[in-house]
Amino acid sequence: MSTLTERDDGAQAPMLSLLNVESSYGPIKAIRGVSLKVRKGEIATVLGSNGAGKSTILKTISGILDPRKGSIEFKGQDVTARDPAFIVQQGLVHVPEGREVFPLLSVRDNLLMGAYTRKDRDGVARDMEMVYGYFSILKERAQQDAGLLSGGQQQMLAISRALMANPDLILLDEPSLGLSPKLTKEIFEIVVRINRERGTTILLVEQNANMALNASDYGYVLENGRIVMEDSCDRLREKDDIKEFYLGMKETGVRGERRWKKKKTWR
Ligand SMILES: Nc1ncnc2c1ncn2[C@@H]1O[C@H](COP(=O)(O)OP(=O)(O)OP(=O)(O)O)[C@@H](O)[C@H]1O
Ligand SMILES: [Mg+2]
Repeated sequence: MSTLTERDDGAQAPMLSLLNVESSYGPIKAIRGVSLKVRKGEIATVLGSNGAGKSTILKTISGILDPRKGSIEFKGQDVTARDPAFIVQQGLVHVPEGREVFPLLSVRDNLLMGAYTRKDRDGVARDMEMVYGYFSILKERAQQDAGLLSGGQQQMLAISRALMANPDLILLDEPSLGLSPKLTKEIFEIVVRINRERGTTILLVEQNANMALNASDYGYVLENGRIVMEDSCDRLREKDDIKEFYLGMKETGVRGERRWKKKKTWR
């Protein structure tokens, strides 16, 4: 029995597609033949426990890590192992795990860093107002050093900085990490608004399956570097394996992977 159900892509080519991508850290194979598609205008998610390879997928897409095998196509162009700066210029921006804002720059300067390749000053000014509209706290703190923001506010800044590049696709790595349930909910609501209002396509990776499945249209389940299941999020939510392992109490996943209890810590 195969748990993989190829989805019907209709007439439209996917905005992003990965074909049999394999990436390693030295001798450690982190992802092993990952194939996935993200359609224009959707929010797609990759669910998986600690160490499953979620961040590795995003790093390989954004060019931080070169794959050993496989290919990556974005908007009809082969971007496999291209330079990260080139990939950003094509309209694909990565918000890494742990946010990584520039702590000694002001909030406003962090936002401008996101727009550094743009020449359209009016557009940049408009987008600055747009992100202040989504996250009003950033406007209040515009002149303050980003390092003084709380973890949740830094996550807002990291997402906003990505928006300042005027992207077609945002890769979002665990926006809920280390945040309270209330703040997580708030950030997810805005991610959905950005998708609906701005039409930004989003690929989200998360351990918080509940939030991710509610926010996303289509989902992939990653265990031990391999995609073991994919479906619309409506259908994934109804599957017993997902309910029990990712949304509930069962100790082993689809392929017998154990749930990790370890809590991550940040610098
Ligand atoms: N820089 C690195 N050097 C060596 N091994 C690494 C490195 N980064 C990740 N790995 C290993 O690659 C595998 C996948 O890691 P990855 O960070 O992609 O997982 P993840 O799904 O993002 O996990 P988490 O939920 O903890 O963020 C793990 O076994 C991890 O230990
Ligand atoms: Mg990760």
